[in-house]
Amino acid sequence: MSAHRPVVEPLADPTDLNGVLAIEEASFHNPTTREWYEAELARPEVCSVYVIRTGEARVAGFAAFWQVQDEMHINNLAVDPRWRGRGLGRALLRGVLSAAAGRGIRRATLEVRRSNTPALRLYEGEGFTVVGVRPGYYAQPVEDALVLAAAVESPR
Ligand SMILES: CC(C)(COP(=O)(O)OP(=O)(O)OC[C@H]1O[C@@H](n2cnc3c(N)ncnc32)[C@H](O)[C@@H]1OP(=O)(O)O)[C@@H](O)C(=O)NCCC(=O)NCCS
Repeated sequence: MSAHRPVVEPLADPTDLNGVLAIEEASFHNPTTREWYEAELARPEVCSVYVIRTGEARVAGFAAFWQVQDEMHINNLAVDPRWRGRGLGRALLRGVLSAAAGRGIRRATLEVRRSNTPALRLYEGEGFTVVGVRPGYYAQPVEDALVLAAAVESPR
């Protein structure tokens, strides 16, 4: 990683969205589409997309979430495969939770595939616990979703 500290900030422009979509394509069997993101970004009162930037990458990862009153639901979170295993996923998650805390959010939820060990370790390391199961929630391949939740605290 570069000497520069990674920065987590809201998606700023179409170039950022292209970076998000490239990471979607590289990360998920059913990547979320440009149309979905454009529709989401058109309602900023509910939907937020944050990116993590490094000295080497304008968009090294991203997180998309919804806010409803004091709760957030993280819909998508991924790091570019080229930059995984360097702490960026943790920095991204912490940055997003910190921004959320600053917006009055007190609780976060998300779904994750039961077999997604890297994501489960990441989330559990940041205080998330399993609060439910959605059987057969995912397609291609069919798999249960674990529902995770955490209290959102002020920045550490
Ligand atoms: C999950 C993901 C975001 C982690 O990003 P990352 O930048 O590699 O994560 P970090 O380097 O910050 O590691 C954070 C923690 O995740 C866990 N982790 C990361 N990669 C792992 C792996 N290959 N195997 C097991 N645990 C792993 C570790 O607990 C790690 O903490 P530690 O190094 O202190 O033990 C990344 O793997 C990813 O984009 N996956 C595809 C998309 C996805 O599944 N998103 C989650 C569902 S919404």
